Amino acid sequence: MNIYDLIVARRTIRQFAPKPVPREILEKLVNVARLAPSAANLQPLEYIIVDDDGLKKKVFSWLKWAASIAPLGNPKPGHEPQAYIFVLVNRQIRQKMYEYDIGAAIENMALAALGEGIASAWVISIDKPRILELLHIPEHYELDAVLALGYPGQASVVEELTETCKKYWQEPDLTFHVPKRRLKDILHINKF
Ligand SMILES: Cc1cc2nc3c(=O)[nH]c(=O)nc-3n(C[C@H](O)[C@H](O)[C@H](O)COP(=O)(O)O)c2cc1C
Repeated sequence: MNIYDLIVARRTIRQFAPKPVPREILEKLVNVARLAPSAANLQPLEYIIVDDDGLKKKVFSWLKWAASIAPLGNPKPGHEPQAYIFVLVNRQIRQKMYEYDIGAAIENMALAALGEGIASAWVISIDKPRILELLHIPEHYELDAVLALGYPGQASVVEELTETCKKYWQEPDLTFHVPKRRLKDILHINKF
């Protein structure tokens, strides 16, 4: 798939197949996060891969999924993420604008994962104090988000966002629908 088609195809996936994600691929994802644009090239971000079964169980219980339809969007038993990549910000390095770095790094990882056939969910609703303790994260690091990963266990499709169709929804067969604004409603050429 070329990069345009990959970007079009990427959707947040919250149901995963019970198939492990190779450690080697997880490390490749952190490598593309490392190479993402960084404001003033300060590079304050660091990452923790979690693929240990015991840790994954604990992490899973401290994440929140698809708030607008909770608890419907929760991964079902047996369809939990197979790995996690936590994004940390080193407070001793970070300056203003570091949030942009996080966005670029996570999107790089999500797209590179999809290139390997692996789906992802960018999750910010985390019980941070618990994860900080569980993963022995030093005090001068801020925990920002996690990318939950696994081979896809559901389909997700884009819908046209309209007055009556604004929120995402999920069908009983777990197909997810995500309304997006139309190109003509967000694109201005030469003047607003
Ligand atoms: C900053 C950020 C935080 C998010 N946090 C969560 C989250 O905590 N839980 C969740 O299930 N999805 C989360 N998402 C995923 C969004 O719900 C999802 O991107 C959005 O519904 C659009 O769907 P799409 O990614 O398939 O285009 C987050 C996305 C972003 C960009």
